[in-house]
Amino acid sequence: MSAPEKSSCQVSPTPALRGVLTVPGDKSITHRIALLGALANGETIAQKVLVSDDSRTVLRVLGRLGVEWTLAGDTLYILGRGPQWRAPEGDLDLGNSGTGIRLLAGLLAGQPFTSRLTGDASLSSRPMNRIRDPLTRMGVAVELEGEGGRLPAVIHGGRVSPVEYVLPVASAQVKSCVLLAGLFADGLTTVVEKRPTRDHTERLLQAMGVPVETDGLRVTIRGSGSAGPVLPARSWVVPGDFSAAAFWLTAAACLPGSDIEIRGVGLNPRRTALLGVLRRMGADIEIVPDDNASACETMGTLRVRGGALRGTRVLENEVPDMIDELPLVAMAGARAEGTTVITGAAELRVKESDRIESVATGLRAMGVEVTTQPDGMEISGSSVLRGGGQIDSHGDHRIPMAFSLLALAADGPVTFTDVGCVAKSYPHYWDDLQRLGGSVEHRSGN
Ligand code: S3P
Repeated sequence: MSAPEKSSCQVSPTPALRGVLTVPGDKSITHRIALLGALANGETIAQKVLVSDDSRTVLRVLGRLGVEWTLAGDTLYILGRGPQWRAPEGDLDLGNSGTGIRLLAGLLAGQPFTSRLTGDASLSSRPMNRIRDPLTRMGVAVELEGEGGRLPAVIHGGRVSPVEYVLPVASAQVKSCVLLAGLFADGLTTVVEKRPTRDHTERLLQAMGVPVETDGLRVTIRGSGSAGPVLPARSWVVPGDFSAAAFWLTAAACLPGSDIEIRGVGLNPRRTALLGVLRRMGADIEIVPDDNASACETMGTLRVRGGALRGTRVLENEVPDMIDELPLVAMAGARAEGTTVITGAAELRVKESDRIESVATGLRAMGVEVTTQPDGMEISGSSVLRGGGQIDSHGDHRIPMAFSLLALAADGPVTFTDVGCVAKSYPHYWDDLQRLGGSVEHRSGN
């Protein structure tokens, strides 16, 4: 059974995890397919999508924009409305979804109506000026009503001008927002990245026949003008989410005697830098690519066996390719001999929680020595991890999942509070942990 909202759970020490599993569909790709399917003409069928709180949030919002969709198990059917959506009545609530709101904002920029976007407390604390600035440069008026460039956001869609935009931060969400708005511009829109980031939007658009060109750090799209693009609906199969598989990779690497195989995982190189970092730390990882690609992405089977780890330094240029996995490097660092250093990761401060602080607080609660910097942290590996304590999710799905792995190696049970947020990206996480041999006890209330 998945954990109910506002519930807590307790994870007890477990010597090793073993088994074979598949993970939920990729979150980034599921969101993009939903949004592009809504924009296409005709029926999109997507198999193996992520069925989660975040996906439902995005789909509900698309419904408010006049898009019909059905979820049957993990198959999503979307009846695209074409490039012109229905003006919504009232606010569009994007809940906790950073990807949903930033990508949708790009598409709403091209719609001939005004939309007001809101989100939950976490999303409302995250910076939105990073999308307002490029959209403003594209001639779209965006007001951010929250203090310091925060939600609610009012987007006055309509005319979009092409732009060449140099991204001030490495962000696939912002890149995608600009490219999607660029679909409604007359001419070429170029985004120049600081460092390459995940390219799912580009791959999907290309597969739908949109001219997208990548030249080093420059990505250029040819827009169709204010009438919007005419996109064919098509069928997709979503690969397993590497960011979900990453929990099991790290768990197995951290627990000697473990042996976990994960099948059908997306292996886009812009997502998988964790593999190199764990190998550098001494992890035994086998990668067997599949013959077939899925949703324009390579996939494969990953097998990890546990052993002794040594500390490492995550290089700044590795950060964008493992941005969501950095908490896991901190977990492995806590189990490793020596020091693990993460730098160049200031973006962690503006995720679902301030992940530098959430991770440091949890590590300290388990007796691990950690120092923090504005853009990273330094973790001293510890032979004893203190159990008996409590770790709060900070409303951030990746925090309890990451720490549950460390709890397996602690000297007593660890309680996790407010774990409902895990349903954002991995609703059956605790079931899978149990299936692999982890000891998990659910509690209701907080
Ligand atoms: C995502 C991009 C990343 C990542 C997020 C999903 C995406 O955010 O952290 O979980 O789907 O484009 P940024 O692009 O803001 O770094």
